[in-house]
Amino acid sequence: MSAANQPQLTVVADADALAQAAARRLITCVQHKDRAAVCLTGGSSPLKLYHLLAQEPLRSEVPWDRVHWFMGDDRFVPQNDPLSNMGAARRAFLDSVPAPRQNVHPIPTGAKNPQEAAHRYEDELKKFYGADRLDSARPLFDLVLMGLGPDGHTASLFPNSPALDERQRWALGIPKAGWEPFVPRVTLTFAALASTHEMLFLVDSADKRQILARVLDGEDLPAHRAYAQGDLVWLIIRAAAPER
Ligand code: 6PG
Repeated sequence: MSAANQPQLTVVADADALAQAAARRLITCVQHKDRAAVCLTGGSSPLKLYHLLAQEPLRSEVPWDRVHWFMGDDRFVPQNDPLSNMGAARRAFLDSVPAPRQNVHPIPTGAKNPQEAAHRYEDELKKFYGADRLDSARPLFDLVLMGLGPDGHTASLFPNSPALDERQRWALGIPKAGWEPFVPRVTLTFAALASTHEMLFLVDSADKRQILARVLDGEDLPAHRAYAQGDLVWLIIRAAAPER
């Protein structure tokens, strides 16, 4: 596994096919692991996938007792808030599947402020990982799910944010969001997100075509800066795929 692998583009027919393909990849990433770690994303793109995981036949293929669920970023709101990414993941699947309570690791948005929440989440990730420094030969995650914002942001890493250049920290508080919802955020950094066997971008709407083309053409947008120790895969619906 070398750093910064070339992105693999996989084009599928539509959003349903994308959710099926993503679910299949997720199961492949976790099913033979004694302990697996999946980093979830927020926004609307993963919701079909989440719903599929809660239903048969895929539900029975997930080794729920051996998978841990983390969040790549979240809005600094309580989990019962409609804007909460972990809240949305719980409603979509985590609360209706046999995932042990201690296997679900929300970002502690009940903290005093986003910075404190980020420090606490970083400590929790290091405890789970069993070390304070990431080792490229031993990725933290088995799968990291990522979305693509209309401005090229990913997780809560927004264009022109100093967070883009963070090299040491695993998580950061983002007091000012660069895209709606304009609420403070907590996000994992590129270094923590990259510590994965597979990073999987989900692009499930045609209105992402232009921004996706800019990212794939190498424009210095956050989603272009994302990298992975393992495989970097873009799962794209045909209507959003760049003309080549
Ligand atoms: C968030 C997300 C964010 C999301 C993109 C794409 O908290 O908002 O993590 O990075 O992935 O904005 O959002 P959609 O999937 O809704 O287009």
